[in-house]
Amino acid sequence: MKKLLLTIPLAGMILASCSEDLKLREDNIDEIVAAMTLEEKAQLIIGVGMDGVDLDRPVVGSTNSGKVPGAAGYTAAIERLGIPSIALCDGPAGLRIQPKRENDNATYYCTHFPIGTLLASTWDQELVEKVGEAMGNEVLEYGADVLLAPALNIHRNPLCGRNFEYYSEDPIVSGKIAAAYVKGIQSNGVGTSIKHFAFNNQETNRMGDNAIISTRAIREIYLKGFEIAVKEAAPWTVMSSYNYINGDYDSESVDLLTNILRDDWKYAGTVMTDWFGGTDGARQVHAGNDMLQPGRQGQYQSIIDGVKNGTLDIAEVDRNVKRILQLVVKSPTFKGYKYTNKPDLTAHAEITRKSATEGMVLLENKDAALPLKDVKKIALFGITAYNWIAGGTGSGDVNRAYTVSLLDGLKNAGFETNPNLQKAYQEWNDKEQKRLDAARPEGLAGLMFTEVAKELDVNTVDYKAAIADADVALITIGRISGEGGDRKVEDFELNTTEKELIQKVTAAAHAAGKKAIVVLNIGGVIETASWKNIPDAILCAWQGGQEGGNSVADVLSGKANPSGKLTMTWPVNFRDHKSSENFPINVEVPMAMGKNPIEGKTPETEGAIKNVDYTIYEEGIYVGYRWFDTQKMAVSYPFGYGKSYTTFEYSNPTITSEADKLIVTVDIKNTGAVEGKEIAQVYVTAPAGTLDKPAQELKAFAKTKSLKPGESQSLKMEIKTTDLASFDEAKNAWVVDAGEYTVKIGASSRDIKAELKANVAASTTNVSKAFMAQK
Ligand code: BGC
Repeated sequence: MKKLLLTIPLAGMILASCSEDLKLREDNIDEIVAAMTLEEKAQLIIGVGMDGVDLDRPVVGSTNSGKVPGAAGYTAAIERLGIPSIALCDGPAGLRIQPKRENDNATYYCTHFPIGTLLASTWDQELVEKVGEAMGNEVLEYGADVLLAPALNIHRNPLCGRNFEYYSEDPIVSGKIAAAYVKGIQSNGVGTSIKHFAFNNQETNRMGDNAIISTRAIREIYLKGFEIAVKEAAPWTVMSSYNYINGDYDSESVDLLTNILRDDWKYAGTVMTDWFGGTDGARQVHAGNDMLQPGRQGQYQSIIDGVKNGTLDIAEVDRNVKRILQLVVKSPTFKGYKYTNKPDLTAHAEITRKSATEGMVLLENKDAALPLKDVKKIALFGITAYNWIAGGTGSGDVNRAYTVSLLDGLKNAGFETNPNLQKAYQEWNDKEQKRLDAARPEGLAGLMFTEVAKELDVNTVDYKAAIADADVALITIGRISGEGGDRKVEDFELNTTEKELIQKVTAAAHAAGKKAIVVLNIGGVIETASWKNIPDAILCAWQGGQEGGNSVADVLSGKANPSGKLTMTWPVNFRDHKSSENFPINVEVPMAMGKNPIEGKTPETEGAIKNVDYTIYEEGIYVGYRWFDTQKMAVSYPFGYGKSYTTFEYSNPTITSEADKLIVTVDIKNTGAVEGKEIAQVYVTAPAGTLDKPAQELKAFAKTKSLKPGESQSLKMEIKTTDLASFDEAKNAWVVDAGEYTVKIGASSRDIKAELKANVAASTTNVSKAFMAQK
């Protein structure tokens, strides 16, 4: 931070007093910055607080505008300069605001769309963009300006509590899906905030954990998705994450926020912290973290003091203020948009219902057990069938008007369910809800409460009679997780009650000549290897938002053909993931809000707890299938896997080279009896070079339109040759080795349909010096 002239704030004040008519316009931002006092600048940089959280600091100008009750934060209004306060709201499964307001009979419910993992499982950028358009329309019509989404941290380990919000273990899938989402939302003239930038791959001690990661893994795995989203979709804002990276707070990291984000990627938007992230306002400003949300006294003071004592350059303050004002002038609030508070929730319910079916993954389907045929009556088992989970908890939850349970969805579709089972489950659920209400902590922590109703012991109901009375048995298994905590091993495994439920119900169904189907209402990967051969079919329905039960019924009945594929590997055992050696497993750490408990500890720090105070990403780039495929390790379901009610044939694979890209084409034909969509994936194996490489890496993918039986479509997938590069730490550059690359077209990472070869020339792309040495 450079020394500065102490006279500048004073000059600003003098100017300010002479320019009473000066008001913010799109073309006078520099003039406005020059007219602002230092206090106003510091106020604009830090937020104006959060409802219900005591800020304990003076506020210059206006406080929380209160325009959108339930907003996570606002920027400060500085009325004398015509700077309005803009509203920042969560995300990402829909707009999160308060559904009811004081002295107001109207309701302000928002649509709960499918969770991020489900959207990514569609592998369909066009569809995700459409969902984004609908979601962004609610942002606009409820008077908000920026949606704090999408969330695209890498699924490093299945136990991360927020994986449901995130997309994939693969950065290409994450980046492409995020870019589509951002484009959809921003087509409404409202902003997004891609988060959490970056390395927020565990919730345990998320504000204090020091992620220790190699420069190569940083570039190739953890930042690649953000890079794609920034370059392809220009999100209005980026949200820096809570954790430390190699010893520095992310929100105070010049390497991350300036050298990489601004210099390498040419990002021109605004960066904000995650809520209460980081402590040292001056360091955050210096790093290029433009806005500190929702702002603390200490941060405010350190900006003022830093400028006054010369340790913080006013030019850096002005640069950040300018970037905040550039955001403000784009906002609907600044433009005076007359919002209605009446988005078309009915139309959006239809969009979420349809989109959810496209991301459900059919894991098993023996003898075409699905779609249901000649089924009228269903014996419906499993607590979540009656108490459906729409999405995860925390800031990613949405205040929706309703959730369609699977029970309701099946009834809406014309099925009958067994009344005795319904009675038993509902009574059990009521009892469980009372127990959960008593256990739920008060206040903010309640938001993060993830315990769900325990499964009913199948032996307590006459399941054989229920099956005898029905045409098919359906069993749901549910899981929920959320912000502030990671999942436990027990959450990954099925417990004895659940296993018994699957075993006994399937055995009874088979004994009666009927089929048993399992539906998974989950937000993260679970263990399947030990029981997946028992039932006739398994549908991973994820958490499909408020219309979830209808969407599942559409798939079960055959009205919709599931076309999702897994964006992460389902291991036999979660410990098969290399990252499980360095992940907080069953550790209880209370979530710290509003205070900084820990200071980027390293393994050498006395008393530092492994995987809590610091986490060493020893697996490097070997995350997900990059690990399993290189190790040739058995998995329960591979990356990219998913069945359909129809079958597809791959033919005529071709590859051509152009100046800077490879073009891969393949014809896909629907060879089955019903209409359906297929997702083709392109994996590349590099020739041997100086760096070790994974056995294969996904480089492109495409989804067909809905193909009628017998219909074909030629898919074209492009790979820029620079995307074949690996990051060479010794050269601090992206390096493409010359040689023959094997380009594979697959239906999953383990179902390769064709192999092609391409010769590629060497290339080197130098980048900024960032994260050069681990601290
Ligand atoms: C979460 C963010 C969220 C913010 C505002 C934080 O605790 O990590 O994802 O956008 O709160 O609610």
